[in-house]
Amino acid sequence: MYMYHLVLLFAVTAVHITSAQIKYTEYMRQREELLKKEQRRRIGGTLVLNDDEQKVNRILMHEKRKEYEDSRLHGKLFPPAISFFKSKPMIDESNVFKLIRRMPKGGVLHLHDSAMFNLTWLITNFTYSPHCYMCYDDNNRLIFRFLPDDHDNKRCQWIKVNELRQTAWDNDAFDKMLVNNITLITPTPDTTYPTLNDVWRKFGAYFGIVGGLLHHAPVRKAVLQETLRQFLADNVQYIEFRSSFSELYELDGSRRSRSWFIEMYRDVINQFTREHPDFIGAKVINAVFRRQSRDTILSTIKTAIGYRKTYGNFFAGFDIVGQEGRGKTLLHFIDEFLYARQQVPPLDLPYVFHAGETDWGETQVDDNLIDAILLNTTRIGHGYALHKHPEVLNIVYDRDIGIVVSPISNQVLKLVKDLRNHPAAALISSNYPIVISSDDPATWDATPLSHDFYMAFMGLAGEDADLTFLKQLAMNSIKYSAMTKTEKKAAYGIWQSSWNRFILDVLQNDWPHYIPIIG
Ligand SMILES: *[C@@H]1O[C@H](CO)[C@@H](O)[C@H](O)[C@H]1NC(C)=O
Ligand SMILES: *[C@@H]1O[C@H](CO)[C@@H](O)[C@H](O)[C@H]1NC(C)=O
Ligand SMILES: *[C@@H]1O[C@H](CO)[C@@H](O)[C@H](O)[C@H]1NC(C)=O
Ligand SMILES: *[C@@H]1O[C@H](CO)[C@@H](O)[C@H](O)[C@H]1NC(C)=O
Ligand SMILES: [Zn+2]
Repeated sequence: MYMYHLVLLFAVTAVHITSAQIKYTEYMRQREELLKKEQRRRIGGTLVLNDDEQKVNRILMHEKRKEYEDSRLHGKLFPPAISFFKSKPMIDESNVFKLIRRMPKGGVLHLHDSAMFNLTWLITNFTYSPHCYMCYDDNNRLIFRFLPDDHDNKRCQWIKVNELRQTAWDNDAFDKMLVNNITLITPTPDTTYPTLNDVWRKFGAYFGIVGGLLHHAPVRKAVLQETLRQFLADNVQYIEFRSSFSELYELDGSRRSRSWFIEMYRDVINQFTREHPDFIGAKVINAVFRRQSRDTILSTIKTAIGYRKTYGNFFAGFDIVGQEGRGKTLLHFIDEFLYARQQVPPLDLPYVFHAGETDWGETQVDDNLIDAILLNTTRIGHGYALHKHPEVLNIVYDRDIGIVVSPISNQVLKLVKDLRNHPAAALISSNYPIVISSDDPATWDATPLSHDFYMAFMGLAGEDADLTFLKQLAMNSIKYSAMTKTEKKAAYGIWQSSWNRFILDVLQNDWPHYIPIIG
């Protein structure tokens, strides 16, 4: 009928009007095609959802559009656009977030073992020990230490945490104060941390303070067990995390070696994986402070090569850490990093570098991206500055090098304010190999991955990014992991069955009122 009229119109009416009408339909066809093309290029753009997934997608997208419109049309604060310290309570109320929490999100590939658990748990769990002491050192920095009763007070005026706690209003208030003092959390981020260096100073102090607790061997073991439990409860089934593997101490002052440390981690992970069939596993990456001397880096690299031989793929690689903007560059250690490759035959040590975690374009720091690529990094940690490097971007795309983006970390550590302006937004639009990660969730009290996933879904991606986007991110986290082909195949299987269960769970229950207790 319509076609008939059109043909008739074409035949008998003025050419002007008809050609305008045809132009309009043609325009709309072109427009549709261009939009489709762009949608297909986005991460997840070519995934096809089955019937059940489509139903869940409709629930998810209904909630997402509502949150977008609440802000875009009705002026409500948009969580990804404001500091995480302010947006967190809003996100916790969001139905999109509640769905994301329940979703099997795959793995987290960029973490630091001193900052990947719930800090409140650490404080309430261990500082009640009768052996836990604290004191302020010469620079008035808080330090903790587990000590036997007969220790001497020469090095520091140690006082039992329990004794100090008794002088406070109540235990909870005291613990809250400790947690508040240690984390980066503040109601006034802009004035508390005027510059990036200010926030990094506080960030560095965190590691110094919790170090005294974490370097106690029994604590370290319990912390890893609890960390794995917290990740699985957040529906994360696999992790790769960085550790310096510095020596641990026992109560009597004796030391545990680095290999004891690695083996303890390996055994805890194996046992947890055995006991939790939904958990895929975990691997470690050795990370050393970039402040160290070249000699120290070289000897650490040599030891790491040995660990790689002994522990195989569980010891997934090597990295240097610490504030990139002010620290030594990758190039500074170039002889050390080339060492393994210059041996005959070359020795095996994969690099998993942080690179481009900076706003300072075309500086020495920014060039870390160039060196990371030339040193054959297996992934790029952050890659915040990648969009300023077209040649590096081409290589990253062609070689399919995973870019591990940690949105909340980049915001809290002052690279970007409004996450919609995060450069990864553009990379997501054109299907760069992105994985979402959480970096140091303990220091800003984020969940193991869900808050960062929320930011990626709501802030980095646009309104139309749907379940295909989240599903692809989960699959990317397995694809770009350090697992072997065989391990990845098994991992996909475990993740896929959790995913299927999640889809059915959402459909069979009275969403959003039904929120199961997990873990
Ligand atoms: C500390 O955590 C362990 C398990 O991780 C638990 O068994 C223990 O009860 C906790 N202790 C306290 C004081 O909360
Ligand atoms: C925490 O910070 C407050 C305010 O600066 C200070 O009064 C308190 O002594 C600090 N507590 C500890 C345990 O450092
Ligand atoms: C990086 O990999 C390429 C291709 O395999 C190789 O030619 C090059 O020597 C490697 N460079 C380093 C520093 O390992
Ligand atoms: C950490 O634990 C405390 C105490 O249980 C809880 O209030 C807080 O919400 C937890 N943080 C996260 C991010 O789950
Ligand atoms: Zn990091």
